[in-house]
Amino acid sequence: MMPRPKFIAGNWKMYTTRAAAQELAAAVAKGLPANTAVRVAVCPPFPWLTAVADVLKNSPVALGAQNCHYEKEGAFTGEVSPQMLLDAGCGYVIVGHSERRHGLGESDALLNKKARAALAAGLSVIFCVGELLDEREASRTEAVLDTQLTNGLAGIPAEHLGKLVIAYEPVWAIGTGKVATTEQAQEAHAFIRRKIAGQFGENVASSLLIQYGGSVKPDNAAGLLSQPDVDGALVGGASLKADAFLAIVAAAG
Ligand code: PGA
Repeated sequence: MMPRPKFIAGNWKMYTTRAAAQELAAAVAKGLPANTAVRVAVCPPFPWLTAVADVLKNSPVALGAQNCHYEKEGAFTGEVSPQMLLDAGCGYVIVGHSERRHGLGESDALLNKKARAALAAGLSVIFCVGELLDEREASRTEAVLDTQLTNGLAGIPAEHLGKLVIAYEPVWAIGTGKVATTEQAQEAHAFIRRKIAGQFGENVASSLLIQYGGSVKPDNAAGLLSQPDVDGALVGGASLKADAFLAIVAAAG
């Protein structure tokens, strides 16, 4: 089996101005070590995608969006289609972030439609899963992950699975400064890989990239990334400062 590359993505959420977004993207591109084997992507807010795409042209930093709709076009006020994201220069889209699952009530069924549509359009999908604190405390973490993966990834055709990335983001660790321990992360990632093996086969599971997300910072990244089933990180807060984000990339290299 080929060793899996590390993949670090920055989720800028609803932060940055247009100028700050361009400046941050330029600093990330400039600070990336030449010929790094680490895959890097940034996910700015929708309105800055094309402005950031201009900055990232000819750089190895990929562009991602934070959400998409499942239709190609139509009367869906306020929505953005996978095809529009491709046209804007995106290679990636985040689907199922907890701030959309829990904050906006997006269901497994809706997220499944989004993931399938984005993959079919040719985007890579960072599909987020993760348990709430009370679910972890009730020892329901694996059951929650199982359901999110069974329902969220149902019906994805084999030929699209190479463009699927899973982000394990325990909800209690997102934006809280309360990072999962390396053992908790590894345990959940190993469970996800076993689950994917059951759902899609060993080959898919062994090459699948599984990112950890939730309060990843320069000082805890190396420990998390040293775990055998942790293939990268989805970084929120620390991705808004180029030096912190680059330090996390360096920890992956
Ligand atoms: P955080 O966010 O790094 O600020 O905890 C992670 C995420 O929401 O993807």
